[in-house]
Amino acid sequence: MHVQTLKLRAAILLAVSLVQAASITISRSTSTNVYDCLTSHNVTYLTESSVNWSAYQVPFNLRLPYEPAVITVPEDPSQVAASVTCAAATGLKVQAKGGGHSYASYSSGGQNGSLIIEMEKFDDITVDQSTFIAKIGAGQRLGNIATALYDSGKRALPHGTCAGVGIAGHALHGGYGYDSRKWGLTLDHIVGLDIVLANGEEVYTDATCYPDLFYAMRGAGDSFGIATHFYLQTEVAPTSVLYFTADLAASLKDASTAATGFEQLQNWTLTSPDLTPNITFGTYADGNGTFLIRGWCMDCNQTVFTNDVFPEMIAGFPGAVPTIQNLGWINALVALASPDPLAQPLGHLYTEHDTFYAKSVVTKNAEPLTYAALLSYWKYMITNQGQGPFFSIINLYGGPGSQINVPSPDSSAYSDRSALWVFQNYGHTASGLPPWDPAITPLIDGLNDAITQPQPDGDFTAYLNYVDPDLTPDMAAQEYYGASTYDKLLGLKKKFDSEFVFWNPQAIGNAIL
Ligand SMILES: Cc1cc2nc3c(=O)[nH]c(=O)nc-3n(C[C@H](O)[C@H](O)[C@H](O)COP(=O)(O)OP(=O)(O)OC[C@H]3O[C@@H](n4cnc5c(N)ncnc54)[C@H](O)[C@@H]3O)c2cc1C
Ligand SMILES: *[C@@H]1O[C@H](CO)[C@@H](O)[C@H](O)[C@H]1NC(C)=O
Ligand SMILES: *[C@@H]1O[C@H](CO)[C@@H](O)[C@H](O)[C@H]1NC(C)=O
Ligand SMILES: *[C@@H]1O[C@H](CO)[C@@H](O)[C@H](O)[C@H]1NC(C)=O
Ligand SMILES: *[C@@H]1O[C@H](CO)[C@@H](O)[C@H](O)[C@H]1NC(C)=O
Ligand SMILES: *[C@@H]1O[C@H](CO)[C@@H](O)[C@H](O)[C@H]1NC(C)=O
Ligand SMILES: *[C@@H]1O[C@H](CO)[C@@H](O)[C@H](O)[C@H]1NC(C)=O
Ligand SMILES: *[C@@H]1O[C@H](CO)[C@@H](O)[C@H](O)[C@H]1NC(C)=O
Repeated sequence: MHVQTLKLRAAILLAVSLVQAASITISRSTSTNVYDCLTSHNVTYLTESSVNWSAYQVPFNLRLPYEPAVITVPEDPSQVAASVTCAAATGLKVQAKGGGHSYASYSSGGQNGSLIIEMEKFDDITVDQSTFIAKIGAGQRLGNIATALYDSGKRALPHGTCAGVGIAGHALHGGYGYDSRKWGLTLDHIVGLDIVLANGEEVYTDATCYPDLFYAMRGAGDSFGIATHFYLQTEVAPTSVLYFTADLAASLKDASTAATGFEQLQNWTLTSPDLTPNITFGTYADGNGTFLIRGWCMDCNQTVFTNDVFPEMIAGFPGAVPTIQNLGWINALVALASPDPLAQPLGHLYTEHDTFYAKSVVTKNAEPLTYAALLSYWKYMITNQGQGPFFSIINLYGGPGSQINVPSPDSSAYSDRSALWVFQNYGHTASGLPPWDPAITPLIDGLNDAITQPQPDGDFTAYLNYVDPDLTPDMAAQEYYGASTYDKLLGLKKKFDSEFVFWNPQAIGNAIL
């Protein structure tokens, strides 16, 4: 799609929405306020003066504590629908809150004054024992889900490592774990969704029912509807998981050692027959001298992995100290989630937080990182030791056979099916609590630039689930979706939510590319 055409389409869409916004203003004056509307529909809600307001209002990221106008706590889809129609009738923007882990606090609206739908009452998890499709309520968290699926016939899903992350935001915008080269993203396991649309209609969508809605929800769910239940195709849990780590800190002695080691790892990744889809891994380095590699080999031969595969993988890092544990599925998840347990309280009973700013860089299989980019990255990491605190994770998404890159780019709004590495650059306060230290923001921006600037033709993008509030809407549209996917989503936004009820600062429709 040509950029000019896209600009024009976005401009028309915005003009239409302004006209519609004007008509909302007129109807608002004749309708009741949002509280009366919610009360008349029997929807439980909280306002600033409610006893438990702060427990409901607080986001995971304490750096961005937006104040909603009202938080509803629906008990069934019809109350979700009433929440949406009451908001639309009174000109409020809407976001759902699943696990609340949005890096940008978009599940608190991404601005003050939105209507937030807290999904904590949607907590059911069942597995159909003939199809092995799990039906999961949108208020559930990853750790509880993993345990329940395993208890229902040793089933499993690919997903991230933190037990407290919500299934809703995670599955709608990606969902990567050490099982993803074998099984793909959580998003790729969605086979159906129960949705409440902007007009309050309750629909079921899948590949054949409202296929365009199904396309848009998977990758841009925050802009298209409220998912109340997820239908996810589960996998057979592996009987063994080799959880491997190696301390690579000796390679931090200078940037060229670390850069050469990583280049050799990248070469291995792109060429070695030993890298089967059973293997997924990443590196972790921080501002305090830690540098390690860790990952999983699922259902692998421990002798072969220990003696041949892992030594080859880390051969470029002098003095590497490997450790391999052979674990069952649940113990492998426990090891990753540690020190947190898998069992996590839902909604307002959840009390873990951080105060942070993060950015991502997605690199492409077709454009492996150059030595110049790697040297620049490691120079920055080493020069800034003692600053922060901050860390940088580089996860492998691509390489031969990765299931993340198997679906076609136009099968869902998650259109990036060509990723090699995904960097997450993350800075936080020392205590994890406010106040924010403004020096951390440029430290993280500089780390991103250290990777991207030496490789101008790198075709770098960003990962939707590490939503970066410092991107302008235009940059977000470009980096998360690219022009052709974004253009398709603009058309669908007009069809399903022409009044921009589902809104955050980077929602579909805010960009004029
Ligand atoms: C500690 C931590 C660890 C993480 N680890 C990983 C990891 O290993 N792998 C990975 O891929 N990602 C990881 N992430 C990122 C995580 O996947 C995203 O932050 C994800 O979007 C969080 O989902 P949530 O439901 O908790 O978030 P929320 O903040 O509740 O929601 C995120 C977005 O989705 C929207 N949304 C929520 N529920 C619904 C719904 N029912 N219908 C429609 N829209 C909805 C919200 O409005 C918001 O815009 C991690 C994040 C944190 C904070
Ligand atoms: C609200 O609850 C009252 C009392 O239980 C009931 O009579 C009424 O029908 C309910 N209204 C809606 C919209 O569910
Ligand atoms: C506040 O939260 C506590 C703990 O969940 C709960 O017991 C109590 O009923 C809540 N009170 C109100 C008024 O919502
Ligand atoms: C949002 O509300 C909080 C609390 O009232 C306030 O401190 C903050 O400045 C507001 N933010 C914006 C952008 O208005
Ligand atoms: C990685 O592969 C490239 C291309 O084959 C080669 O030029 C480079 O020397 C290799 N790097 C290392 C560290 O082995
Ligand atoms: C940094 O590392 C030292 C030594 O391992 C440790 O004692 C200290 O707690 C670490 N600091 C932070 C902020 O992680
Ligand atoms: C990968 O896992 C499958 C089971 O899912 C197993 O059959 C196969 O042997 C494994 N491959 C390797 C190389 O370990
Ligand atoms: C693992 O591989 C080795 C070497 O190929 C082989 O001798 C051994 O039988 C294998 N172990 C299992 C459990 O398959």
